[in-house]
Amino acid sequence: MASGEGALMASEQDRMERIVALAKRRGFIFPGSEIYGGLNGFWDYGPLGVELKRNIKDAWWHDCVTTRDDVVGLDSAIIMNPKVWEASGHLAGFTDPMRKCPGCGHFVRADQLWEELATTSVWVDSLLQAFTVVSEIDTPPLARLQFRSSATPFTVVAGEIDTPRLLKWARGKGKRVAPNLALVCNPEITLSWLATRVSGQPDAPPDMKELIRHVATEQLHQTGLQDPCPRCGAPLDEPSQVRLMFESWAGIVQDDQHKVYLRPETAQGIFCNFKNVLDTSRLKVPFGIAQIGKAFRNEINPRNYTFRSREFEQMEIEFFCHPGEADKWYATWRQARFDWYVGLGLKSDRLRLRDHEKDELAHYAKACADIEYAFPFGTAELEGVANRTDFDLKQHQEFSGRDMTYYEDETKERFLPYVIEPSGGVDRALLAFLCEAYDEDEAPDEKGNPQKRTVLRFHPRLAPIKVAVFPLVKKDGMPEKARAIYEECRRHLAAFYDEKGAVGRRYRRQDEAGTPFCVTVDGQTFEDGTVTIRDRDTMKQERIGAESVLHYVRERLHL
Ligand code: GAP
Repeated sequence: MASGEGALMASEQDRMERIVALAKRRGFIFPGSEIYGGLNGFWDYGPLGVELKRNIKDAWWHDCVTTRDDVVGLDSAIIMNPKVWEASGHLAGFTDPMRKCPGCGHFVRADQLWEELATTSVWVDSLLQAFTVVSEIDTPPLARLQFRSSATPFTVVAGEIDTPRLLKWARGKGKRVAPNLALVCNPEITLSWLATRVSGQPDAPPDMKELIRHVATEQLHQTGLQDPCPRCGAPLDEPSQVRLMFESWAGIVQDDQHKVYLRPETAQGIFCNFKNVLDTSRLKVPFGIAQIGKAFRNEINPRNYTFRSREFEQMEIEFFCHPGEADKWYATWRQARFDWYVGLGLKSDRLRLRDHEKDELAHYAKACADIEYAFPFGTAELEGVANRTDFDLKQHQEFSGRDMTYYEDETKERFLPYVIEPSGGVDRALLAFLCEAYDEDEAPDEKGNPQKRTVLRFHPRLAPIKVAVFPLVKKDGMPEKARAIYEECRRHLAAFYDEKGAVGRRYRRQDEAGTPFCVTVDGQTFEDGTVTIRDRDTMKQERIGAESVLHYVRERLHL
């Protein structure tokens, strides 16, 4: 691996670890049911985290519902009639193709096998370090780099396979890291197949992928080339489909007839209520229905902190429009949703809009764009904006027998509206805002010596606490005065009072919480009625009248 790239990856990983540690230390995010060892894919939000989350949801609701006259809200039940999931296609199609390892019991998503082998498999890593590629074009480090980082990672292995080295690895390190790999269990036979292959087609040497499959194959003629388990190297079973919806029962009888599902998306609750909303409001197409709520997916491989969880929250809008206007509304929402993240502080060079390729589109979607953020662990989706056509309303019309069409008075036209769906995750947005806000710089301590400072530079709308108020010392009437300012502030915005420890420490604590302003009552307050107010980002302090603190903060935060 090129040393520059390696250092970058290590520093990003390190950054992520520090973000996770801060989030735990300061009460943003805790592992779910931690006292019992946690539960993979489930997270709890602590006192600061819940405020941050609430602020994200409030900002979304304010910007997408309250301040628009063409979007209304909904709060539908998490558990719905199972027919909903038949109609939506989730019962038949919301599955992942999984492969089980008969050796160690590990499950791998079939479509992520090679990514897992390339990025997290200890034995592949170890094997690649041990084995030499003799090549005129590719030096070993280059081959390794391509293996690690490319989208089609397995570059051609040109040259000779170093058999003695592979044997040595199989009898030594391989035994520990890949006990069930064919190369380890029966190295002579496995290597003889590989040698036959290499010498048989000298002009078409195996690529890395084929090589990895070869070292996993003992009985080539009986089984063909095998795909190995990333953990232990055993040949994986064939893929089988695993359903991603959590199941339960409604009522006392717990049989198949009474089976229900925890919703995997909030969208279906909206489609099912399309007619209810239409009939009870004075809305006309085009209009949208918005919902924020929990969704559940039994993800096979929860990972990247809260990014892929099993319980999470979605913010979804189904925007119903005339089919002839769908392209226009798609373009409008695609841009509006991207701008929303930028406006709340995600810098556009870490944020991107990626249009789906034709072969990436869901079968019902005419167009789709992902809003992606460059997290320290990689670039990944925050939100998808899709043109779902009339697929969902048509399905529910067919399965429920209810008419889902819309009659347009003006044109005397009856039609099934098309739907534009901006669908985002609250938890993913929170993680992106947290990663973006995290910063380290220096601040002078009490003696003026520069010290490392950790600060969360949240957008003011998102900051869990907007202003903190301190007495400089716990005497001379300062606590009483500071408390009075705090009481006034907290009637209008999220405020915090702190009188414990040195004032410099209190500033640091608020920097770590992302609080934009800290106010300190000191001796001078009793002489001229002023207090200091410190800006989180510049760390500059100025004196303002004690009575104008609330006004000052609200004005600067545009609250
Ligand atoms: N109704 C369309 C829909 O649900 P999706 O792309 O499957 O589309 C929408 O999900 C959003 O929900 C994603 O962009 C993501 O932000 C969030 N999301 C999906 N699965 C998630 C998971 N396992 N953990 C956290 N957020 C998730």
